[in-house]
Amino acid sequence: MLLKDRISIVTGGSSGVGRGIALEFAREGARVVVADKQEAPLRGKYHETDVTTPTVEEIEKLGGEAIFVQTDVTDESQVERLIEQSVRHFGGLDILVNNAGIHIPGGAQDISIAQWDQVVGTNLRAVFVATKLAIPHLKGSEYGRIIQIASVHAYGGGAGPAYAPAKAGVVNMVRDTAIEVGEFGITVNAICPGYIETSLQDYLTQEMIDAVAEKTALPRFGKPRDVGRAAVFLASDDAEWITGASLLVDGGLITGT
Ligand SMILES: NC(=O)c1ccc[n+]([C@@H]2O[C@H](COP(=O)([O-])OP(=O)(O)OC[C@H]3O[C@@H](n4cnc5c(N)ncnc54)[C@H](O)[C@@H]3O)[C@@H](O)[C@H]2O)c1
Repeated sequence: MLLKDRISIVTGGSSGVGRGIALEFAREGARVVVADKQEAPLRGKYHETDVTTPTVEEIEKLGGEAIFVQTDVTDESQVERLIEQSVRHFGGLDILVNNAGIHIPGGAQDISIAQWDQVVGTNLRAVFVATKLAIPHLKGSEYGRIIQIASVHAYGGGAGPAYAPAKAGVVNMVRDTAIEVGEFGITVNAICPGYIETSLQDYLTQEMIDAVAEKTALPRFGKPRDVGRAAVFLASDDAEWITGASLLVDGGLITGT
């Protein structure tokens, strides 16, 4: 087991990519705090259409240990409570995964300023807040890890004026935080997923889905597990000298575009 007894928080862990990460962490022996606005998994139009069991229940079926802490990551007092509760329950903190994120489709002429604030608030500001509040606890760990879930859209336009800039901000923030906390042995890395089979993709048409799969070198959408395995690697001892990096997990989508 690569993460035996490591204590982890996965934000947005009830659904999609976060659920995939939480389950893979648990398979590798980690204790998992699932932090999400809601415990019930989101069900998508195309993907995860029949997912009903909460992540904690799935982890317990695997013989793992997990708790759910209801948290809106955009509210710093809730994030503070999440971290305190996690540390109190499991006795420390080794791994923080900032995965909770939202996407509102539309260009600069379509989305409102309030929607822009909402996307950047969730996908960038909240990542900073949780990172800031977790660092004092990660400093007490021998295996401190911060993993930020960004996106291939960090590298190009086309995903709207809020989502892509927020993800690009995360990729840059990873480098900055990595420099700051390296002296404490904490690594900070991003994963940049391509298109993953989750409810976040409900806004696509079937034609768009087929077109993306076709231009992907490994021609399919990713599964939450694909991102989960990359997160396991970055959280494990095998990645102890990797920091400030952004790992594309996109099946070769942007190499060909
Ligand atoms: N699905 C993709 O193709 C894809 C691609 C690249 C990056 N990502 C990123 O992966 C992450 C997860 O996306 P997903 O596809 O699993 O989405 P999803 O919508 O399937 O799941 C997101 C989860 O986050 C939770 N959440 C949303 N806002 C929250 C908040 N304010 N506080 C707490 N929890 C909140 C939701 O309740 C849900 O459980 C996001 O950061 C997203 O940008 C996804």
